[in-house]
Amino acid sequence: MQFSGSPKSKPPTPETSQQVIPAHVAIIMDGNGRWAKARGLPRTAGHKKGADSLRNVLDACRDSGVRHLTIYAFSSENWKRSSEEVNDLMQLLKHYMEQELETLHQNRIRLRFIGDLTMLDKDIKKSIHHAVELTSRNTDFNFIVALSYGSRQELVRAARKLASKIKAGELNPDDITEDMLADALDTSGLPEPDLLIRTGGEQRLSNFLLWQSAYTEFYFTPVLWPDFGGAEFKAALQDFSQRERRYGTAE
Ligand code: IPE
Ligand code: IPE
Ligand code: MG
Repeated sequence: MQFSGSPKSKPPTPETSQQVIPAHVAIIMDGNGRWAKARGLPRTAGHKKGADSLRNVLDACRDSGVRHLTIYAFSSENWKRSSEEVNDLMQLLKHYMEQELETLHQNRIRLRFIGDLTMLDKDIKKSIHHAVELTSRNTDFNFIVALSYGSRQELVRAARKLASKIKAGELNPDDITEDMLADALDTSGLPEPDLLIRTGGEQRLSNFLLWQSAYTEFYFTPVLWPDFGGAEFKAALQDFSQRERRYGTAE
């Protein structure tokens, strides 16, 4: 038996009716500006409302058994926005981190950052360092924030790391493996995302986790990030549960 219009989806047999939970979810939180514009508000109002969505989704992740959440908070290309918006976003992020840190820590959540943090202001770097250090021994949940992050830039940094090992005579080019390259990325040690959600209606990666999402399942929704909450997240998990992952095999 197959559902019409969806030949790849599996029928809800007793085996498959049990939900498959992704271990790692990555989210491109998009649509804050459009949410604000539709209400005649400044873009920052959308970013502020987006912080509430993040709180809700983080809770929904933990409730459903997801173990790792990576969020795209600010891309390498987002530096091209007005200095006013960049500044507002950075302040908001710093504020969010300081406000949430104690709760995150109490909930045994480990905070990690990926991206080129050298670009950030001193005060935000300090907050990040403190949050990462404080939560470094927590093992219940990994919360990874992609900040000043671009996947191509990350790959270039990885290539440079391997190249300097070759220059130092520690590595032979023919011995480079996929694992070595993966280890040279900011995401070293983390599992690859099982599910990547993009809100806001665009269907592209915008330089997010290009290497890491080789076999990730994508879920695109028109819902704008400030309108995205626990119910929308559960719908994404339900959709993921119906996917058949084959990794190139003929099964
Ligand atoms: C996502 O929302 C947040 C960031 C990129 C920091 P946008 O600000 O891109 O919102 P839209 O896409 O313009 O609606
Ligand atoms: C991607 O959204 C970056 C983040 C959500 C942080 P953008 O809004 O920057 O992406 P484009 O410009 O639509 O590709
Ligand atoms: Mg956008």
